[in-house]
Amino acid sequence: MTMVRLHSDALVFFGITGDLAYKKIFPALQAMIRRGHLDVPIVGVARSGWNVDKLRERARASLVEHGGVDEAAFSKLVQLMQYVDGDYQSESTYTALKNFLGDTKHPAFYLAIAPSMFPTVVEGLTKSGCAQGGRVILEKPFGRDLASAEELNEILHRAFREEDIFRIDHYLGKEAVLNILVFRFANSFLEPIWNRNYVRSVQISMAENFGVAGRGKFYEEAGAIRDVIQNHMLQVVSYLAMEPPATTYSEAVRDEQVKVFRTIRSLSCDDLVRGQFRGYRAEAGVAPDSRVETFAAVRLFIDSWRWEGVPFFIRAGKCLPTTTTEVRVTLRRPPLAKEFVDGLNYVRLRLSPDVVIAIGTRVKRPGEALQARGTELAFVDHPESDELDAYERLLGDAMKGDAMLFARQDAVEEAWRIVQPILDSCAPAYEYDPGNWGPVEAEKLAADVGGWQALGTSVSDE
Ligand code: BG6
Repeated sequence: MTMVRLHSDALVFFGITGDLAYKKIFPALQAMIRRGHLDVPIVGVARSGWNVDKLRERARASLVEHGGVDEAAFSKLVQLMQYVDGDYQSESTYTALKNFLGDTKHPAFYLAIAPSMFPTVVEGLTKSGCAQGGRVILEKPFGRDLASAEELNEILHRAFREEDIFRIDHYLGKEAVLNILVFRFANSFLEPIWNRNYVRSVQISMAENFGVAGRGKFYEEAGAIRDVIQNHMLQVVSYLAMEPPATTYSEAVRDEQVKVFRTIRSLSCDDLVRGQFRGYRAEAGVAPDSRVETFAAVRLFIDSWRWEGVPFFIRAGKCLPTTTTEVRVTLRRPPLAKEFVDGLNYVRLRLSPDVVIAIGTRVKRPGEALQARGTELAFVDHPESDELDAYERLLGDAMKGDAMLFARQDAVEEAWRIVQPILDSCAPAYEYDPGNWGPVEAEKLAADVGGWQALGTSVSDE
């Protein structure tokens, strides 16, 4: 069946006066206009007592701070912008919105508001008739456990069909993450070794060298597992582990992702080490006796023909030594070559801050002796394509109705099922000093595969 995708003919942004709009959305809108990808009314909605002039000023301030103002594109942007001020609970807000929408048929509603407001807004949009023919775009968190994720989906489905729901996980919009798919499936040399016969382990590190940066209150509700492991990190696992998607239908990639999630064993407390950086409890909005983790290391297994027995490790945290996200797929050492330590044959995919795809190999050390040395071959090596691109890409895709890079309901629920057993009461949160790789206990988790590999090239290890 061929799906006809309709382009959204208006963008309605709930929470336009908030942080996300300021940091990401105005720059993305300007970039879309510059490329000629956006030419529909943009209606901001908030309950801040603003008017459209104040909104325009805010848009300019956002661009000055995030990427710069392009006067031509900006003037188009302000022409497209409208503003509705009102309480999300009150009917008159939706009546005013309906007036602004006029005879648009397929508006996209971006909900950048507290999840607790979702039911109210969805109901307001439905009752006023605004939701009719529309689509909805929303940001993680998609619930805070399996039950609340199911509840959220039920609320959204009251007004929107699943194919009209665009759940943003901005990692899926990153150039480097998409490159995992291209690198895997646009080459034939990788496929024969990309399985349990050759791969010893897979490690993903998402390190940030800063703390919770004023978001203590938010972070208290989240912690590293809910904030990044359940979503960004598991999405990366799915791209690394999925079977080649068919090219003949639009849901192929998302189907393969869900297949990976379904074969990942639910985590147990033995697969987890939690940590909290010293000083976290003194942050604004953080409880003085908080047990929330700012670092988590997990080990997961995929019960599939391809990956059975290959441990996948993820570690993610705040106040670590660097801000870098990197994947390392370590191959088994060659047979009989006992003098070779594990870890020198590898594929390294740096996702941020720069984009690198490299292969670690061994070649002869120059000179008389028949000795090997490590060397790394980098195929892709360029500065980070930043997150701005991710938002521009994702917003554009959502408005086009292309859902490939969005989290589907079944994937979100499976990802919660995987982390559910480790969400609250398991494992203590060991303290670690800022600037370290989490608590020492995290080292033990990966001991069987020679510990965590250092980030970056291994050549200098020789
Ligand atoms: C967000 C998390 O989803 O992703 C943040 O809430 C985290 O805690 C951020 O810092 C990281 O995104 P990026 O694109 O900077 O790697």
